[in-house]
Amino acid sequence: MPRVTKIDNKSIANKVFLRRKATEHLNELRVLDLFAGNNVLWHNFDKARYYGVELLPDKGKNLNADARQVVDSLDLSDFNVIDCDSYTIPFEICRKIIEHPKVKSGTTVLYTVITSIFTRLPNACLDELGIRDMYNIAPSMFNLNGATYFYDMLGNLGVKEIYYYENLAGFTKHYGYFVIP
Ligand SMILES: C[S@@+](CC[C@H](N)C(=O)[O-])C[C@H]1O[C@@H](n2cnc3c(N)ncnc32)[C@H](O)[C@@H]1O
Repeated sequence: MPRVTKIDNKSIANKVFLRRKATEHLNELRVLDLFAGNNVLWHNFDKARYYGVELLPDKGKNLNADARQVVDSLDLSDFNVIDCDSYTIPFEICRKIIEHPKVKSGTTVLYTVITSIFTRLPNACLDELGIRDMYNIAPSMFNLNGATYFYDMLGNLGVKEIYYYENLAGFTKHYGYFVIP
């Protein structure tokens, strides 16, 4: 078996372009990068502050922790950009960010949503929709709707506008951003 390496950012140029567009109106960047990996995406930006959180200790210069658990205890008022470049659907963490007592209105939140017929929906999403029992019987009936559930959740929390682009090769991937109301 050859060595198989998962590459974090197949489309780094597109992701960086999105981040430039999402932040072009900001005078300074104070970035909380919650799925920071090797800190690649923000490397070439001029930043007043950068704080990375990453589960795995052998990647980048970060706080090594589960972002979903530590986000509650971070002072989000210190940041005007929050990045959720996750491998699946950052459902729970985006909900926590929007409802966070210290997050500032106007904060830009970037996200990656990746779904496929085989990719399990987050439990937080199942609970919000009240479909846990049905889901356990027929998950593939729901899995491809992950991005729609994610956008519905944002809308229910008051997010007015979302900008994203889509890549349909293999998995369905949405790369986008919204602003905290
Ligand atoms: C798509 S990659 C992000 C790459 C990153 N943007 C960069 O510039 O290198 C997703 C990253 O999230 C990390 N990750 C997955 N689950 C996590 C969690 N619950 N908390 C923090 N990091 C997590 C993975 O280890 C992986 O490095």
